[in-house]
Amino acid sequence: MRVQFFGRVWKNLAYTVPKLTDYSAEALGRASAELIAALELETQKLLADDKRAIPSDAEWKLRWEEWKKFRDGWIGRKSGVLTQINELWLKSAPKDAKRAAGQLVNDLRKTVQEEVSRAEATLMRWEGDDQREASEASARSFTTIEEALIAVEGVDITLPGVQRPIGAEHPVIKTMHEIVSVFQKLGYSVAEGPVVETDYYNFEALNFPPNHPARDTQDTLVIAGQQSKPQRERLLLRTHTSPVQIRTMEKMRPPLRIVIPGTVHRNDPPDASHSPMFHQVEGLAVDTNITFGDLKGTLDHAMKALFGSSVKTHFRPSFFPFTEPSAEMYVSCFICGGGGKRGAEPCRPCKQTGWIEILGCGMVDPNVFEFVTDNGYDPKKVSGFAFGMGADRIALLKYGVDDIQLFFQGDVRFLQQWG
Ligand code: DAH
Repeated sequence: MRVQFFGRVWKNLAYTVPKLTDYSAEALGRASAELIAALELETQKLLADDKRAIPSDAEWKLRWEEWKKFRDGWIGRKSGVLTQINELWLKSAPKDAKRAAGQLVNDLRKTVQEEVSRAEATLMRWEGDDQREASEASARSFTTIEEALIAVEGVDITLPGVQRPIGAEHPVIKTMHEIVSVFQKLGYSVAEGPVVETDYYNFEALNFPPNHPARDTQDTLVIAGQQSKPQRERLLLRTHTSPVQIRTMEKMRPPLRIVIPGTVHRNDPPDASHSPMFHQVEGLAVDTNITFGDLKGTLDHAMKALFGSSVKTHFRPSFFPFTEPSAEMYVSCFICGGGGKRGAEPCRPCKQTGWIEILGCGMVDPNVFEFVTDNGYDPKKVSGFAFGMGADRIALLKYGVDDIQLFFQGDVRFLQQWG
């Protein structure tokens, strides 16, 4: 029965917008009253009380089609009543009637739009009631609470849930966090500095004199258009995290113990072991009576914490302008155990030597302290050690990854392995 009622095709609007020739207040009033009367008639039909019974989904589909015709007939952009009165009543109004016609059209637009929204809201409420009623009715015929829940809520709570993949720490960042936390446990604080750095902090205050050949080993990427500035003010991408040593000593008086994680850049063409952007973790300890023994003990402990208690450390003399003496530190190869072979195969990570170079380090050069003596770093009173390591290289070794590029290509299949 109801199907028959709702199945009726909505007739085109009974109302047609008349052309106006008479723009007197009286004529405008009449035209407006006729329009509103037609609108009310339409909404009454749409929201007739006998439509409140519980229609099926199919019936609701038809009803919403009726509703769309109603809506488009009144407010449709192309030829709805509102568009028509704008054309026929306002645009073609003579000059002296424009104001009155404009006012009228505006009022009517508001009335019509409100009525259309009201009708829609009513239908939505009824539909909601119907759906609730229907699902409650069917829930009543279920025997278990679970079945009833599924029927009412449309959710089968016994199915596995939707998996929302959560992000994972990138292997390089994870490695940096591990390194940093080893030193935090020893009482070090974390410091950071800018990636775009001045020549002063990256080189000069680290005892790289201007034009010193040691600068060439850093393959610096410089910011363009800086030639007119004095050398020390020129901007570049920091080639190491060491400038943060100076920046921190300018701000904090000794004693000082800091670790500095960060990105650095060098003009290295990308290959399996090089990337123009990579990561370092720097360390600096300054106090009275800091010795090379403190350096060795601290780093030996840190390597055991990072790679396992059985690794050994080994120091070889080296050169850095900002440390004296300087050293490179090696750890015994945690891949082959130090023997240089994996079964019958040569061990590649340590190039069969049994040792892997991990970092550069040394005792802070007194010339470096000279740049910050004003803040309490008198080279006659304090001493310190510093070290810097490549976090990407350590991550490669730790996870047995053979190409550094994999870290920066953003391939989810690769990165998911740490998820
Ligand atoms: N900054 C050096 C580099 O990038 C590494 C380094 C060596 C840092 C010795 C230090 C250090 O703090 O003492 O090659």
